[in-house]
Amino acid sequence: MAEAPERNLGLDLARVTETAALMAARYQGRGDKEAADQAAVDGMRLILDHVDIDGVVVIGEGEKDGAPMLANGERVGTGNGPKLDVAVDPLDGTTLTANGMPGAVSVIALSDSGTMYSPGSLVYMDKVAVGPEAAGMIELDAPVAHNLAQVAKAREKSIEDVTAIILQRPRNEKFIDAVRAAGARIRLIQDGDVAGAIATAIENSGIDILFGIGGSPEAVLSAAALKCLGGDIQCRLWPRSAEEEAYAIDTNRDITSVLTHTDLVNSDNVYFAATGVTDGEWLAGVQFRGSQVLTESMVMRSKTGAIRRMSAWHDLSKLRKISALIGEQPTN
Ligand code: FBP
Repeated sequence: MAEAPERNLGLDLARVTETAALMAARYQGRGDKEAADQAAVDGMRLILDHVDIDGVVVIGEGEKDGAPMLANGERVGTGNGPKLDVAVDPLDGTTLTANGMPGAVSVIALSDSGTMYSPGSLVYMDKVAVGPEAAGMIELDAPVAHNLAQVAKAREKSIEDVTAIILQRPRNEKFIDAVRAAGARIRLIQDGDVAGAIATAIENSGIDILFGIGGSPEAVLSAAALKCLGGDIQCRLWPRSAEEEAYAIDTNRDITSVLTHTDLVNSDNVYFAATGVTDGEWLAGVQFRGSQVLTESMVMRSKTGAIRRMSAWHDLSKLRKISALIGEQPTN
């Protein structure tokens, strides 16, 4: 008898990121990034606890004030199901959301147990990421101009028409200068380099390559998404101080070598889901329309190559119920 198809956890994950996005989106523009983040975390946890996995959070929110935060090492899911590593960013773009700016998303990734890279408390990595056409053609240690030329070749356009996405930070000035010197175009973002990395692999996003130093957890999440999309990423840990360098040595983390896509997520069984919180390059943000709320998500699975883009309508009363369940005080 033919084997029954395995359950695609991605669809469960869409409910997880949808709920986090719905919860966070109510805080759009309210100027309170902690409240937006907390709402996203609480919404995500509520649904994730009902997903049939035996998950361990490898990339989490970190422990803040002992609050339930989806911290590293925490077990999530019902415990009935496959043993999996879990990476979450309930709200990538807390400040974007608080200021009502584009590019905030809620994301989650799963992969086989023991396959996700743990950066520990080394919070930054130097990154370069591209979509499927240029996979295998980029090198973190190559000059920026070389990587731009490679992606131009892969996408059959001239360097002048290549667009690099870069987090706007003083530490990334050297990348900005190098892209400008090479004559390519730039999309500077204030935050949200998970969405930025993924944009390189989405047709019509207008983004070809990501450069720059951003969050380490975000690098692992980006690697998971790019596994599903056929893209590529290379990174290196970027310690900020002698203390962080010492920590890297003590904990056996190599700060000199390039971390390849496989070093970041060493599994061909990766699930990834993302829901837009505010409008972005490749996902619309949450839209409140009368008694209904609309979300847009992408759900992917590396093993089968399945990539789904999904819109979902939610009843506003559902949000109120979730809000009550997570113990929020009514805001109006
Ligand atoms: P938060 O939403 O958690 O604030 O993170 C947003 C973000 O821009 C990430 O996308 C990025 O990787 C990281 O912060 C960069 O860190 P920093 O803001 O410290 O430069």
